[in-house]
Amino acid sequence: MLDNVIQSTKENFGAYIGRWRTDYFKNSNPIVLELGCGKGEYSNGLARLFPEKNFIGIDIKGDRLASGALVAKNEGLEHVAFLRIMMQFIDEHFEENEVDEIWITFPDPRPKDRDEKKRLTNPFYLAKYRKILKPGGILHLKTDAEAFFDFSKEMLTSQDWPLLVSTRDLYQSEWNDDHFGIKTRFETIFYNKGFSIHYLRAENKKEA
Ligand SMILES: C[S@@+](CC[C@H](N)C(=O)[O-])C[C@H]1O[C@@H](n2cnc3c(N)ncnc32)[C@H](O)[C@@H]1O
Repeated sequence: MLDNVIQSTKENFGAYIGRWRTDYFKNSNPIVLELGCGKGEYSNGLARLFPEKNFIGIDIKGDRLASGALVAKNEGLEHVAFLRIMMQFIDEHFEENEVDEIWITFPDPRPKDRDEKKRLTNPFYLAKYRKILKPGGILHLKTDAEAFFDFSKEMLTSQDWPLLVSTRDLYQSEWNDDHFGIKTRFETIFYNKGFSIHYLRAENKKEA
């Protein structure tokens, strides 16, 4: 595996917690996470546009991370890293308030009732995001799955995350420019099948 993929083993579990800026990126720039990044199109795409930020794509699937990591290496994107963990442990890899912004891109919608707890926007996960994200930090969600989008809005509202933006058709909305025209792999697949892209932006409301 390339050295821009951090594999979470027993020996290095949480190795960079609280030290991503100082020990990994070696700068003091903001940290942006992409959760369920797959092949990392979004992390790499944002990194090309924003050299003054650090990006970390997170997923459990090593082969997908490896292909995103190779793209980053080939393009010399040293401000992108990939972290291989199960999302339920995210708060053991980032310290409280260490993260500036979170993107969740086309997460598995988990439509079955019995899988509700596995959805990346359920309260169990939102509590972890609240902890690692700085006060006022932004959580973005892009998805083609309408029921998942509705579920996420309901959860965010019930957990006191003010919704700043919500649209069922991002490309036709006034916020189209805000996703920088970067399409992920799943986004391309579902958009080409005729699904519209849903997008929301919520604020991490907590005391500074
Ligand atoms: C539908 S894919 C989307 C991939 C990419 N964001 C895209 O838009 O093309 C969802 C990704 O989330 C990852 N994922 C789902 N649940 C996860 C969890 N609990 N921990 C880590 N990764 C997870 C999967 O491995 C998968 O790569």
